[in-house]
Amino acid sequence: MEVIIRPDTERAVNLVVKLIISRITEMPNATLGLATGRTMERVYAKLVASGVSFAGCHTFNLDEYIGLSPDDPDSYRTYMNTHLFDHVDIDPANTHVPNGNAADIKAAALEYEAAIVDAGGINLQLLGIGTAGHIGFNEPLSSIMSRTRDKALTPTTRVQNAEMFGGDPDRVPKRALTMGVGTILDAQELVLLATGPAKASIVAKAVEGPITSMVSASAIQMHPNCKVVVDEDAADQLQGREYYDFIFDNEPEWESYRTQKT
Ligand code: F6R
Repeated sequence: MEVIIRPDTERAVNLVVKLIISRITEMPNATLGLATGRTMERVYAKLVASGVSFAGCHTFNLDEYIGLSPDDPDSYRTYMNTHLFDHVDIDPANTHVPNGNAADIKAAALEYEAAIVDAGGINLQLLGIGTAGHIGFNEPLSSIMSRTRDKALTPTTRVQNAEMFGGDPDRVPKRALTMGVGTILDAQELVLLATGPAKASIVAKAVEGPITSMVSASAIQMHPNCKVVVDEDAADQLQGREYYDFIFDNEPEWESYRTQKT
């Protein structure tokens, strides 16, 4: 794992955008794993503004609320269309979001796993982190080997996501269909972005704490190619930052990112 600390949110987002663009440029037919949430809104806005072509890409989103139809204004399908898919040249048929409205959720979960395999697996998986330590909607005690399945959301997550539901946690659906931790760990590369002071404590637990199903995001420590990008606020409780900064400041792989103007 590498931890990159940028001075502010803008520069953390820019670095993640650059990582994604480099991957798509090297591999125009890349399969991307995508996340939703407030943190990613800026990433998608900048990807759209960059004009990078998604024409050859396939995408798989991490999760979807159970019980919301794809055209529900609060669904993650709507989020993705609004923030990214409607503004880039991706073929809509190549964009996948779990079907939280399926009559048979277990079958939908199996189909989603099979579709990822059929696409050749995920080349780059973008991740956010919830204050409950989730990646996707893998709430505490999610098995580190879990696959796509339905999951009950914690009260903490429902409070975190209430803003998108008129500020009312009771309006946030109680369950979601989410890739499992094991599904996420199968991706070739993970890029986790966390910004803002509300994420400082959970980022420190995920990156430097023990690997535990109580903090699903800690499982990324087991991934051989994982980058965690944070701004100063989200990095606030990290103990090892001297070393992380040393790596970013000296390793050749980061040279073009160091000299990035913003
Ligand atoms: C959503 C997802 C979640 C979010 C996380 C952070 O698809 O996978 O794990 O990334 O809840 O959300 P924000 O960015 O809203 O703090």
